[in-house]
Amino acid sequence: MCGIIGIASNKKDKSLTDVLVSSLSRLEYRGYDSVGVASLDDEGIDVRKAKGKVVEVVKTKKINEMSGYIFLGHTRWATHGAPNDQNAHPHVDCSGRIAVVHNGTLNNYKELREELESLGHKFRSDTDTEVIPHLVEEFMKRDMESFEAFKAAVSSLRGSYAILMIMEGEKRIFFARLDNPLVIGLGEDKNFIASEYAPFLPLTNTVVTIQDGEIGFITPSSVYIEKDGKIVDVNERVHKLNFTLASASKGGYSHFMLKEIHDSPLAVKETLSTMMADDSVDKAVKVMSQANRIFVVAAGTSYHAGLIFGRELNMSGFTVIPMIASEYPSYRTRAGDVILALSQSGETLDVKMAIKEFKNEGSTIISITNVIESTISRESDVKLYMRAGPELGVAATKTFVSQVASLLLLKSKILGEKLDYLSHAHEVLEASLEGTEGQMKKWSSTLISAPSMYYLSKGVGLPMALEGALKIKEVAYVHAESYPAGESKHGPIALVSEGFPVVFLDPGIDELKVNIEEMKSRGARIFYVGTSKGISKDEVEVRLEKGLEPFALAPPIQLLAYYVSVGKGLDPDRPRNLAKTVTVE
Ligand code: F6R
Repeated sequence: MCGIIGIASNKKDKSLTDVLVSSLSRLEYRGYDSVGVASLDDEGIDVRKAKGKVVEVVKTKKINEMSGYIFLGHTRWATHGAPNDQNAHPHVDCSGRIAVVHNGTLNNYKELREELESLGHKFRSDTDTEVIPHLVEEFMKRDMESFEAFKAAVSSLRGSYAILMIMEGEKRIFFARLDNPLVIGLGEDKNFIASEYAPFLPLTNTVVTIQDGEIGFITPSSVYIEKDGKIVDVNERVHKLNFTLASASKGGYSHFMLKEIHDSPLAVKETLSTMMADDSVDKAVKVMSQANRIFVVAAGTSYHAGLIFGRELNMSGFTVIPMIASEYPSYRTRAGDVILALSQSGETLDVKMAIKEFKNEGSTIISITNVIESTISRESDVKLYMRAGPELGVAATKTFVSQVASLLLLKSKILGEKLDYLSHAHEVLEASLEGTEGQMKKWSSTLISAPSMYYLSKGVGLPMALEGALKIKEVAYVHAESYPAGESKHGPIALVSEGFPVVFLDPGIDELKVNIEEMKSRGARIFYVGTSKGISKDEVEVRLEKGLEPFALAPPIQLLAYYVSVGKGLDPDRPRNLAKTVTVE
């Protein structure tokens, strides 16, 4: 995920850079590796960019002193290519007359780059984005007009994108959108286009929406959009926003946690499509397929994702040992063992210490993180990345489901299974978000006053129950414990009396019904998530697809924690005593 902004103005006005800089600051939460700007005036295009935060790069690159009619800005969350100065956006063609900023990932950039290099194009970065200006340059060499060349370039791309492009001699910003957000703001003597409303909301609340698959351009006074060669009636898309600036930067949601839960389908889609095109995945699969034992090293939510991976492979005869990272001194590895380190942040100290130890013992380290070139990925022999985009809420939500998606991909490749089923993962998430949110709001009103509760399940539902209990502890401060449902009668049931809340996550296991009855007969208040009907007055149906059960169960557990937190007047984005990245022992 990255943040992009474009401003097209009639006047070469100094105050435009102030608008640009404040826009970049409002977009910074979408990516904070590096920052870049391109300005366009009669002299040509000036690009200034560097690794670092907005305030630093604005200062070092003197962005406030830039002038022009047209500006592009970008805040980067690295996907292809390390976070460094060359990989920062905007990217330009060979002549430096075309500049592009991009949010998304291009799956076929390697083939495109090879083709362009064979035609003599010289690349300056390791990014996927850089193919775009070169493609446009190439099409223009073939006598295409600028917009035609832009359209031809976009139709060569496979993947997801929100793209903005400027070109010398053109007072317009070209754009294209697929699976990544892009909105237009209509101002006085100037128009804006950005990843979201927040950057331009202080200047205009008159906006034009852009839909997936649309392509076009803005000028200082007009908007042109087309889809599949047909012109879109822009007047029908104009509307006024009633957002506040604070809610706009959260995409209209009241908290980052809620936004990120709703971003899960896109995060999973991005993760799967980029991992499927990543050669390192095959390398990791080969190493793990030949491993003596696979140790999964992780903490918190990442550990729960690791349990799903372990269960799937153990059932197929592999030896996978999920391990809580801080417990590493209790384990010994030997030649032939492989470590799979899971960490959203890529910086968790417990995980770092464990992999250091196991590396010394001679194990191969594979990692999956959400942060390119994080410490854990740098210390790994094979680096894999999920593409969930930055997660601002302290509680892991979209990164958890992205981790699960990446692990299911690895598991299926190791077992030689077909991968088709994974293409439904985002739909299962979408259906579950839609189908369970209302009910989770209702359940939350009961759980607000609960001092204690259980989350019970079996099989693949168990890691989800553990995750449900962790989430509600973290953001809503409800004492929640999780057990295999069958284990509950061996002790935990002693706590159950009239009204004690027990959430059952049913991944389609008939035997769970016995445990539900045991709890009911002790007076427990049953909250049931599954496909059966008539289990309890508090029940919600989810779409269970074989192999994709975690994607049906993740939304209700995350939403329940969120709504209980909000119902108690807490801030789910900043739970007490917790940090997003835990770099202490
Ligand atoms: C849960 C949560 C923590 C982290 C844990 C590991 O919502 O955020 O339990 O999962 O601190 O963090 P990473 O995955 O960054 O290593």
